[in-house]
Amino acid sequence: MAKKTVRDVSDLAGRRVFVRVDFNVPVENGAITCDTRIRAAVPTLQYLVKAGAQTVLASHLGRPKKGPTPEFSLKPVAARLSELLGQPVPIASDCIGADVAARAAALKNGDVLLLENVRFHPEEEKNDPGFAAQLVKDSGATLFVNDAFGTAHRAHASTEGVSHHVKTSVAGFLMEKELRYLGMALEAPERPFVAVLGGAKVSDKIQVIESLLPRVDALLIGGGMAYTFFRAQGLGIGKSLVEQDKVELAKALLEKADGKIHLPVDHIVASAFKADAETKTLPVTEIPADWMGLDIGPRTAAEFAGRGAAAKIVLWNGPMGVFEMKPFAQGTLAMARALADSQGTSIVGGGDSVAAVTQMGLADQIDHVSTGGGASLEFLAGDPLPGVACLQEA
Ligand code: 3PG
Repeated sequence: MAKKTVRDVSDLAGRRVFVRVDFNVPVENGAITCDTRIRAAVPTLQYLVKAGAQTVLASHLGRPKKGPTPEFSLKPVAARLSELLGQPVPIASDCIGADVAARAAALKNGDVLLLENVRFHPEEEKNDPGFAAQLVKDSGATLFVNDAFGTAHRAHASTEGVSHHVKTSVAGFLMEKELRYLGMALEAPERPFVAVLGGAKVSDKIQVIESLLPRVDALLIGGGMAYTFFRAQGLGIGKSLVEQDKVELAKALLEKADGKIHLPVDHIVASAFKADAETKTLPVTEIPADWMGLDIGPRTAAEFAGRGAAAKIVLWNGPMGVFEMKPFAQGTLAMARALADSQGTSIVGGGDSVAAVTQMGLADQIDHVSTGGGASLEFLAGDPLPGVACLQEA
């Protein structure tokens, strides 16, 4: 599974390099609200600059469906990246065409050019071979570096297609780090290995649960998806979220798990789905018929945190409750703290769990905070990622 990286390429000086990054960052009124993904690409870019490469960067932003629109422009990203690299990063007016070819040809060693949003062309998502060839031709690249782990589950022209038009395709340092840490979850090199899964729906995590079950020592399940498991155990769940069509599957998973799945023992229940609803902390065996469970309770949080902190490897994906409402954020915050305190290797993936550790200022105390949402889930489910499969084996 190990891939060659940019470190394995010796002749970078003066070489034109096409680097796919995932700069799909949140932008509100033209301002970037979280630059984590841009910062995560900096080590690879600094390495290329220092080595004297001529770097052409490609990314998507959002899901534009109507061609070029200012709302989906990567211009704010170019500005932020210039600050982070401490050198100008100009942006081309498109990702292919005469402007790109001219700007790329004028690059000097150590320069970096950002292409405009690749999804302004529908051919990108279709992985159109002609479009992929043009991305390579107009940029003049002879080397493809994929550092876009967050988009590696997409077989698109700039994530996979371009690899067929260059001699060499390797991973960047972010990609390398993501594969190393998330790979630990699949290889479980140290024990105990504990996985903590949350989020609203079992259906989003079925493949991940099935993939992780044989590998983990314990699988802790919180969040809305726990209620489908409670229903499978025949417990009353009041008005809590349930996926009725997944109850049988939850039953089968519990049987297969042979005691490895741990569900909450207590929960915070509310009279309504709103931040100012009346709340109670109850054992999971008790819930008023018209109330709903919106967070794990303190006993569960302590048990999950203890198991997580004692693990040699702990992987966490998905919130333990309705994290965006303060009264139901405690379970998720407790997990964030537990991973930060863990003596073992801590790995966090998935939007809300990443948001929790970032909001609490704990991201630096976690060994690896994944930049991939969908990509990390597909990776953990054991699915090959097209943007990784196309890179050369180490
Ligand atoms: C993400 O944010 O998960 C990646 O950038 C991929 O974006 P997409 O889901 O629009 O393909």
